[in-house]
Amino acid sequence: MYLSKIEEKMLDGEYGEAKALALKLIVTLGEVFKAKKLISIENAQIAGISYKTIGDSGLEFIKDLYAKNAKFAVPTTLNPAGMDLEKWKEIGIPEDFAKKQLEIISFLEGMGAEKTCSCTPYLIGVKPRFNAHLAWAESSAVIFANSIFGAKTNREGGPSALASAIIGKTAMYGMHLKSERKPTHIVKVEGSIINELEFSLLGYVIGEKISKGVPFINKFKGKINLDNLKALGAGIATSSGIALFHLENITPEAKTLKNNLKNLEKITIEKKDIEKAREKLSNEESSTHILLGCPHLSLNELKKIASFIKEKSLTKNLWCFTSRKIYEKAVKKGFVKKIENVGGKVIKDTCMVVSPLEAIGVLKAQVNSSKAAYYLSSLSNIKVELKPLEEIKKIENKA
Ligand code: F3S
Repeated sequence: MYLSKIEEKMLDGEYGEAKALALKLIVTLGEVFKAKKLISIENAQIAGISYKTIGDSGLEFIKDLYAKNAKFAVPTTLNPAGMDLEKWKEIGIPEDFAKKQLEIISFLEGMGAEKTCSCTPYLIGVKPRFNAHLAWAESSAVIFANSIFGAKTNREGGPSALASAIIGKTAMYGMHLKSERKPTHIVKVEGSIINELEFSLLGYVIGEKISKGVPFINKFKGKINLDNLKALGAGIATSSGIALFHLENITPEAKTLKNNLKNLEKITIEKKDIEKAREKLSNEESSTHILLGCPHLSLNELKKIASFIKEKSLTKNLWCFTSRKIYEKAVKKGFVKKIENVGGKVIKDTCMVVSPLEAIGVLKAQVNSSKAAYYLSSLSNIKVELKPLEEIKKIENKA
């Protein structure tokens, strides 16, 4: 891979140990994927910052980089941590877990990260430019940035996004190349997709059927809005390695690709495929908790949740996960108070998958996201029941 004179000196340690280590990681990855050179990035999103996920070895890795004077060269945001960084005692997070989680965040902040702690940076002011090169970890955010904004990022891992943030560059391969962004499959969806759960499950089925490549979804009938697109992308990225999809007449690159659709493999998805995925991912019917916000809830979704709750206590523990920026807005609008008045919680900085829910007694939960269902069952052994918001509303209001 070609390196400029400055990059060579950086690799030799002339700009400090942290930069040399970071560049070494990026160059190694670049060589594996046959990248020809490095390219500058506009910003980075680092995942793998929850103490639950990275444990003591991850904490030591970040601490060591901080001790080596690492500083982020581009604006850098963070994925959810393992707890609400302020209200962690309220949901029963153990003290020693909290201490280590706060240490991780303080090292990352010390290197220059913004304490966003969210998987939806695009909802809180980080709106990628069309064609901008980024280094984002967090598959649901990556697919959103590539597909909806037409920005360019691979599905980085936590360490490679961290390394890119330090040097302000990534290796030019994969999603950074125009040739890799062309559709590989045409997807036709039978019938209309009506709610956030169906979008999320449709995504899951697309990912399962294609697993690798770039789907082009055409002649789509369904209620398109940002929340549903967020659910669709997260679903696709859960069951596959896909980092980009095109949606006819909606996503920015779709218009220019009309001539690239000949001779592609065609896939049809019917309502029964979506129902089958729902059955496969649901394994519980007596949940104690309703966990919403995978990916993190938007202000609009919090408004919806606040408005469907009647003036009486809920039958289950309702926990809503969002970013601290959306939380602040929801406080001002009165949505948080409304949810708390009926016994619910709005939790920021973390999510149901990366916080130690099982350890604090959450064992059966209702969710409206295929990603949450998949990871809660596979990583945490929590039993899940998939229901759209509309159904949850009916059940709660009838009780
Ligand atoms: Fe976000 Fe956590 Fe889901 S990081 S996409 S809420 S698993």
